[in-house]
Amino acid sequence: MEEKMNVSYYMEALKNMNAGKGYSACVVTYGCQQNEADSERVAGMLHQSGYDIVKEPALADVIIVNTCAVREHAEERALSITGGYKHLKAARPHLKIGVCGCMVSKDDMSEKIKKSYPYIDFVFGTEKLSHLPEILYRSYEKKKRIFVPNDGELAIPEGLPVVRESDFRAWVSIMYGCNNFCTYCIVPYVRGRERSRRPEMILAEVRELVASGVKEITLLGQNVNSYGKEFGGECNFATLLSRICEIEGDFTVRFMTSHPKDASRELIDVMAANPKIARHFHLPVQSGSDRMLKAMNRHYDREQYLALVDYMREKMPDIAITTDIIVGFPSETEEDFADTLELMKRVKYDMIFSFIYSPRTGTPAAKMEQLPESVKTERMNRLLALQNELLAEKNEAYVGKTLRVLVEGTSKTNEKKMSARTEGNRIVLLDGDESLTGKFVNVKITKSSPFALLGEMED
Ligand code: SAH
Ligand code: SF4
Ligand code: F3S
Repeated sequence: MEEKMNVSYYMEALKNMNAGKGYSACVVTYGCQQNEADSERVAGMLHQSGYDIVKEPALADVIIVNTCAVREHAEERALSITGGYKHLKAARPHLKIGVCGCMVSKDDMSEKIKKSYPYIDFVFGTEKLSHLPEILYRSYEKKKRIFVPNDGELAIPEGLPVVRESDFRAWVSIMYGCNNFCTYCIVPYVRGRERSRRPEMILAEVRELVASGVKEITLLGQNVNSYGKEFGGECNFATLLSRICEIEGDFTVRFMTSHPKDASRELIDVMAANPKIARHFHLPVQSGSDRMLKAMNRHYDREQYLALVDYMREKMPDIAITTDIIVGFPSETEEDFADTLELMKRVKYDMIFSFIYSPRTGTPAAKMEQLPESVKTERMNRLLALQNELLAEKNEAYVGKTLRVLVEGTSKTNEKKMSARTEGNRIVLLDGDESLTGKFVNVKITKSSPFALLGEMED
């Protein structure tokens, strides 16, 4: 409660301080949906502090860069982009540049920024999102650089203002943090311990979104299946989902991500019984080799994973299954990799997000003996080639079928077409105009490629 008052107090103070100046702010986001959801709150707080929200950093008086730390490449990109904003300060000396998110929540990062990036005015960790108005206010007032690292603060800030990117699609965080410590992953170190939002808060947010016309809601958490553990059986993820489905209205609900060790048959049964839940399951496998899964600390084996996939398909034959795979984890042999390719052929995924293993300082796997880059890249190329082959086959099978899709807007790859997504999150291109955006329509699939489906609208 006190926290919320603090946020409101500083948003008001900023508004008064900058009254009449016509200031704008821009939020630049890297990383996963969790970061996108956080950025919408950052934009919400800035908007309520009197800033116009703009998309172009060059027009902004405050730039916030929300960063990701999951792979080295993500960090390099965020740092180089932020470096590019330095010259904007020459034209606008009052410009404030702030960096938040997972990259700056690592132990060593604040020091690095203090020393090497003097044009960054303030830094705040993932647990300190709601401190932004106060930090920004103090940054104007004291003209000193401010560093606010994570310190294990587990409070969940409720009721922060939000500026959403889309009118018809929304993220709803149901939990924060992660307790799993997969040996390759930095997330538990930068997002803190797992904590769930109260179900009544989540239900109220979803109700409000549906009432405002939102058509698709994605529930977010690093491992949604362990939602509600701290509530002692009062409300687990399956219960939460069924309660969301009781809300009246024409909407679809999705969720991500599910850890296979915690994905329950109860959850699959709830999905099968509720047409409001999208027929899509993102179930990151990471590797098809039991030896690798153990080294990754994943707590399931190939057989258990496949049994889960079989159960899903038995209950929902049309379900789309997608996954994440890491290629080139330390000590991965040709045989381990062959197990992954074999598993891909067995499951026939609808989409795979594949990543070359990137060592993250502070995680156990970074201390293991690493594979040469050339081996990792070569394996990745083979994985991609196989997935293209499997997807071409899979997409081909859709031709002639009618699917319900949500239209997203004009296609980015083909401006003459509208782009839509199936419940399984596949892209479908169709003829039509902007008036279809944000609507559900039925489409008959006429053509396929490994990357998209083409279709015609039905009445
Ligand atoms: N909580 C989610 C994953 C979040 S990170 C889950 O458990 O599924 C998203 C994906 O990034 C992971 O599934 C993994 O495939 C990949 N990833 C995480 N750390 C990585 C690393 N160090 N190198 C390469 N890929 C990594
Ligand atoms: Fe990372 Fe594993 Fe947690 Fe996912 S479950 S965020 S991969 S530690
Ligand atoms: Fe990246 Fe943080 Fe998400 S490390 S993947 S933005 S939780």
